[in-house]
Amino acid sequence: MAKKTFNIVTLPGDGIGPDIVKQAVKVINRIGEIYGYTFNITEKRMGGIAIDMDGCSLPQDTIDAALKSDAVLLGAVGGPKWDNLPNGDRPEKGLLGIRGALKLYANLRPAVLYPQLQHTSPLKAEIIGEGLDILVVRELTGGMYFGEKANSPKFNPENPDCWASDLEKYSVFEIERILKTGFDAARKRNHKLCCVHKANVLESSRLWRAVFDRVKKDYPDVETSEMYVDNAAMQLVRNPRQFDVIVTSNIFGDILTDEASQVAGSIGMLASASLGAGTLGLYEPIHGSAPDIAGKNIANPLATILSVPMMFRYSLGLMKEADAIDKAVMDVLNAGYRTGDIFNKDLDDASKKVGTEEMGDLVVKALK
Ligand code: IPM
Ligand code: MG
Repeated sequence: MAKKTFNIVTLPGDGIGPDIVKQAVKVINRIGEIYGYTFNITEKRMGGIAIDMDGCSLPQDTIDAALKSDAVLLGAVGGPKWDNLPNGDRPEKGLLGIRGALKLYANLRPAVLYPQLQHTSPLKAEIIGEGLDILVVRELTGGMYFGEKANSPKFNPENPDCWASDLEKYSVFEIERILKTGFDAARKRNHKLCCVHKANVLESSRLWRAVFDRVKKDYPDVETSEMYVDNAAMQLVRNPRQFDVIVTSNIFGDILTDEASQVAGSIGMLASASLGAGTLGLYEPIHGSAPDIAGKNIANPLATILSVPMMFRYSLGLMKEADAIDKAVMDVLNAGYRTGDIFNKDLDDASKKVGTEEMGDLVVKALK
């Protein structure tokens, strides 16, 4: 029988992106060897590298390849080099563009603190307890990120009459589908869901709340709550363990996921998935491109490696292979291996402090 084949597009991007994507590719290829699959992996450009080589942050050829693929693995984009381009393009535009082009409206961002890495959370031990496992479900293709943009005719920060605006607009359809993603996720976890909005002020949030009140009736087995976003930001540091699944809008989700990632300790450990109506998804570490440490073999590749099990589960249907990668990462952590960002000089064995490549190789070796 022919081997089952999967087509994966990688977008290493900028900064440490290429360093870490390389490690995840090693892991994917090893899974192919062990379990007998063919992974056709095609590298494409997006972000700053694409601005340099193709003249725009998201070349059409990258969109076409991604649309034809089974899943996309992204490293990171951005860097100071591309911050002020005269034509207004930016690496981040490429990221927003691909989310839009692939219609990836649901962003799943787990904030997990592994028990082996408890010291990496800045919260006191009595608050963080034995660990943390929150899932933030962020709406990804609506709201002010994609709403109508407008400017007064001439951009002039010296002129008090000059103005600019970004429209926070949501339809019932958009709200309902992301809420369903949240509820379905809660059903696979601890059956708790908190909808975060700002309905005391925003019209758009009042619509979120009204749709939430309706949709929750279809999920009587899920315990629901709602919270204003300012309170949610506070509760995330005051008592993060009260949350299971949080579902929220694009902008609130952007902000709360950065906060949740810090609460969960090392940002170098957190993966994410961006999904649409079908199985095609984009998977990426939630950290940025860290240009200052690019190419130095010190970045933590685990967030990218941990994006692969998400890809296997949501896009490729490879459940046991996903479990195998999660387990391999656990085994490597249990054996005491640490990259610099998760290394603690009082707790960890200095001889087990490793670089990007070594961490990738350790996970590959631990795969069964
Ligand atoms: C994220 C990032 C992006 C966002 C930026 C880089 C456009 O902050 O993925 O959270 O705001 O969505
Ligand atoms: Mg962000």
